[in-house]
Amino acid sequence: MSLKPLQIGDLTVPVPIIQGGMGVGISLHRLAGNVAKEGGIGIISTAQCGFPLDNFKTDTLQSNLDAIEKEFKAAKEIAGDGIVGFNIMVASFSYEEIVKQCVKVGADVIISGAGLPTSLPEYVAGSKAKIAPIISSGRAAKILLKHWSKHYNRTADFIVIEGPLAGGHLGFKKDHLQEAIETMDEEVTKIIAVVKDFEEEFNVHIPVIFAGGVFNRSDIDHYMGLGCEGVQMATRFVCTEECDAPDDYKERYLNAKKEDVEIITSPVGMPGRAIKNKFSELTKTHNIPTSKCNRCLDKKLCDSKTNPYCISTALINAVTHHTDDAILFAGANVYRVNEMTTVHELMKELCD
Ligand SMILES: Cc1cc2nc3c(=O)[nH]c(=O)nc-3n(C[C@H](O)[C@H](O)[C@H](O)COP(=O)(O)O)c2cc1C
Repeated sequence: MSLKPLQIGDLTVPVPIIQGGMGVGISLHRLAGNVAKEGGIGIISTAQCGFPLDNFKTDTLQSNLDAIEKEFKAAKEIAGDGIVGFNIMVASFSYEEIVKQCVKVGADVIISGAGLPTSLPEYVAGSKAKIAPIISSGRAAKILLKHWSKHYNRTADFIVIEGPLAGGHLGFKKDHLQEAIETMDEEVTKIIAVVKDFEEEFNVHIPVIFAGGVFNRSDIDHYMGLGCEGVQMATRFVCTEECDAPDDYKERYLNAKKEDVEIITSPVGMPGRAIKNKFSELTKTHNIPTSKCNRCLDKKLCDSKTNPYCISTALINAVTHHTDDAILFAGANVYRVNEMTTVHELMKELCD
């Protein structure tokens, strides 16, 4: 049976699959544009997306703002009428300016996590951009939607639930991960119930999307069965020809075994899931000094003098051929990704 289109307000998404934002430099215009072209939502990660530009080292914020414009334009050229948006980490340095730039360039959607995006409605006010928080519990959903209701008299256009099998930073404490894996389906049901209250309050429909460990069509059907209306997938999109990451990064995915996937401690203050390598081993026993702070995180969250390593440098190394000196974010199912494909083939496989 074919998948039902996803309706987000007046926005119709032909295929209810969102390609999750992947920073740094993994989901840029090529991946996002091609997913959008195939009928899903293509998401550009804004995390240090200016890293290939000349002004990145001298004016990091400006280069990120420039890259947002450049990447969006290029993605739209590939996507045609397809839907392209941005993933913006709440913890980002100059979050407000980054959101406003995404709105200015014409983002169709903005998805925001790694913290609760409490002020997001203010920064997108007056725009057509559809907004979604990334949340991992019913409690967080309730707190955030209550806050938006009280302060902005509005609610989310859609919700992304991110479960404990996702790649990158996780919204769970390290010690609670196993329990979260066992109880996530119940939590999805709880979140959907919370969302219902706000649908009633605002007389709108708020589709719920599930992310984290979604690998194949049967996983999609499982979450649709729980009441979700779409999925967000990231890990599976890395080993596509169109993914913006270089081949040596994709090779790490293709070669990863189950025992290579580990939970790391990120300077962002959250655990993260990544593929084990020389660097991740080293961080367990050594602090790795930062030569120059790239200003990727809010100052309150990161002190370059005391942090065990620089997350921004480690993530940029991952996509600039220094995969041994890098953090290689990946979802729990990365060991099941065994061959390269194309976005077209992957979308076809998931839809059929
Ligand atoms: C390499 C990689 C980088 C990621 N970077 C980000 C990011 O910058 N911001 C974010 O909110 N989520 C990020 N994520 C999480 C994904 O957007 C997505 O929600 C999650 O990985 C879904 O699980 P899956 O990878 O099992 O499909 C990242 C995931 C991966 C694998």
